[in-house]
Amino acid sequence: MARITAGVGSSHVPLLGVAVDQGKWQDDYFGPIFKGYEWTREWEKAEKPDVIVLIYNDHASAFDASIIPTFAIGCGESYKPADEGWGPRPVPDVEGAPDLAWHIAQSLILDDFDMTIINEMDVDHGLTVPLSMMFGQPEKWPAKIIPLAVNVVTYPVPSGNRCWALGEAIARAVASFPEDLNVQIWGTGGMSHQLQGPRAGLLNREWDNRFMDMLESGTDDARHIPHIEYLRETGSEGIEMVMWLIMRGALGKRVKTLHRHYHIPCSNTAIGHLVLEPEL
Ligand SMILES: [Fe+2]
Repeated sequence: MARITAGVGSSHVPLLGVAVDQGKWQDDYFGPIFKGYEWTREWEKAEKPDVIVLIYNDHASAFDASIIPTFAIGCGESYKPADEGWGPRPVPDVEGAPDLAWHIAQSLILDDFDMTIINEMDVDHGLTVPLSMMFGQPEKWPAKIIPLAVNVVTYPVPSGNRCWALGEAIARAVASFPEDLNVQIWGTGGMSHQLQGPRAGLLNREWDNRFMDMLESGTDDARHIPHIEYLRETGSEGIEMVMWLIMRGALGKRVKTLHRHYHIPCSNTAIGHLVLEPEL
């Protein structure tokens, strides 16, 4: 049967994609940020996941104000990097896993999650930057990807509790797929950042680290953090962190921390990264 073997949390700052694409990832500014991903790049080479359920948000690249799906799952064969204003990133196309994706979509919908099914879309930095962070610059991405897009851009956005429950449902879906597949789940976005208004540039090291502590612990306290707390403590874009809760919810009650990294600042955000393994 398919099984979820690990969860990865990571920021998906667009500037990090530019740093990789322009070969600047070892300079004084970016070096300390990327150093925190070296462990994971080596670990991924050994883990060789077959499929990654990659939780991310679209930034008005595939969707805009004309359609705002709360939860959308990519069931297509492949996805091209989106043009976000400077041309598409020079990274490989993303290969989908349609059989498993359709199975997960069916399982989730019968489990009372009303997913939007997407067969064609481009994927932006929310999805391609974590791939670059974890895999570097390969000719072809070494795993198939199931994109799972969450609306964290336009309110109302889903609650942390709903995200956690979705993760639990994804775990049930994967566990009922009859093929022997090594599946990882990644939650991306965050950490604290605010891009506009009088509080632009807000970062909150203490809160971000408390959030990662909660995900490492055997409690599910993080699922009950209200939207207003993300907004107040982590800035207007910190709400992206609810996507980490989908990843954490999929890992079950107890987890083992394999790796953790935090760095301030990167562009105008905080970088957070966690690698967790479910403990049976
Ligand atoms: Fe984002």
